[in-house]
Amino acid sequence: NQKNMPKEKGLDHTLSLLQEGYQFIINRRHTMQSNVFETKLLGEKAICLSGSEAAKVFYDNDKFKREGAAPKPVQKTLFGKGGVQGLDGEAHRHRKAMFMSLMSKDDLKEIRQLTKTHWEKAAKDWESQDEIVLYEEVKKILTKVACEWTGVPLKEEEVEDRADLLSEMFETPAEVNLNHFKGWRARSKAEKWIETLVEEVRSNDREVEKGRALYAFTWHKDHEGKLLDENIVAVELINLLRPIVAISVYIAFTGLAINQYPEKVTSLAEGEEDKLQWFIQEVRRYYPFFPFTAAKVKETFTWEGYTFEKDTLTLLDLYGTNHHPDDWDNPDRFEPERFAEWSGSPFNFIPQGGGEFDIGHRCAGEWITIDILKESLNYLVNHLDYTLPEQDLSFSMTEIPAIPKSKIKMTNVKRT
Ligand code: HEM
Repeated sequence: NQKNMPKEKGLDHTLSLLQEGYQFIINRRHTMQSNVFETKLLGEKAICLSGSEAAKVFYDNDKFKREGAAPKPVQKTLFGKGGVQGLDGEAHRHRKAMFMSLMSKDDLKEIRQLTKTHWEKAAKDWESQDEIVLYEEVKKILTKVACEWTGVPLKEEEVEDRADLLSEMFETPAEVNLNHFKGWRARSKAEKWIETLVEEVRSNDREVEKGRALYAFTWHKDHEGKLLDENIVAVELINLLRPIVAISVYIAFTGLAINQYPEKVTSLAEGEEDKLQWFIQEVRRYYPFFPFTAAKVKETFTWEGYTFEKDTLTLLDLYGTNHHPDDWDNPDRFEPERFAEWSGSPFNFIPQGGGEFDIGHRCAGEWITIDILKESLNYLVNHLDYTLPEQDLSFSMTEIPAIPKSKIKMTNVKRT
């Protein structure tokens, strides 16, 4: 029982994707009444998938591959070339293990402790300022955390520039205007910065602790026993630094949620781990961040009567799956308690990708993200007093990444 896949007419819909942002796949899923449909993007045929059932198929390594899946503009800013995101099979497993080896319980404990220390230091300074912008401040906090945790040296006077450099790569992933140039320039500067460090470590001009990512990646041998090219080491270290700083986006949304849903905040007063966890999980489910992820069909196959032809670009709707009515009750309500009941499925809650960590492309930094968010939520709720002055707290569903417009201004900041 072969079926024709629902198909959007027209030559190309890249412009609509840029205009509709997070709603692009959802809008078409609604009009075509289907979790699977075909459209055209960047002059290519593209299949779009939504919901947990489709996610299961998308994360089947026999059906999809990543080689050649990331569009050029995204490679030039967000990911860089030659990184783990574009690898498949044995090369991917080996490289991914390099990342996952940094995610032990002790590593996570350390990064959480660093987060607390740097919140505390920053908050002390905020007490003497009339107003702070939370998103901008947290980018600096997380730049310090990221550099310290990975072993990348950072002087106090460099913090602001490095924070800007790392965030320009994720603040401009898909723009086709001047901002894209900004992101592209940031990437080439950041790669130079880190490559120099790697050269210094390799030539014994710089000492770095053995347990640190800078050391581990510099001396990592690939699946064929060879050291990685210095540029690839830099790309992969930036694959740690950049997204750690990007957690600022979720912290800005956490600040927004605290303000918008005060009735959900009262249960956090004791700083209980479970309650903190449910709240930040709901932040990651409810607010938009990564709209979708991309792969290509590895070998032609059929699913639910639809043919997926070899090499077809395929997008999995991450935001849309987190809000899919087949997977979530009242998906458009902010309800942290829903996580008390959540099954833990690797396919229905996928803000940072789904499937498995080791053999799939699920985000290597998901546990770090959760720990940094819990610590930050606890700090905001239980260790800080502040006022939110008049400001525009709205965010756009068509700009990727979405960030509250005012970036969360705070006045009268005091530690408690
Ligand atoms: C992959 C989101 C934080 C490192 C991914 C993917 C997404 C994602 C959607 C791709 C999943 C896929 O294609 O199937 C996020 C979000 C974050 C975040 C929203 C919050 C700020 C982090 C952190 C790190 C990190 C903190 C590292 C410390 C990576 C790496 C990959 C990845 C290395 C590639 C994994 C692979 O290809 O196997 N992330 N991430 N991310 N993320 Fe994250």
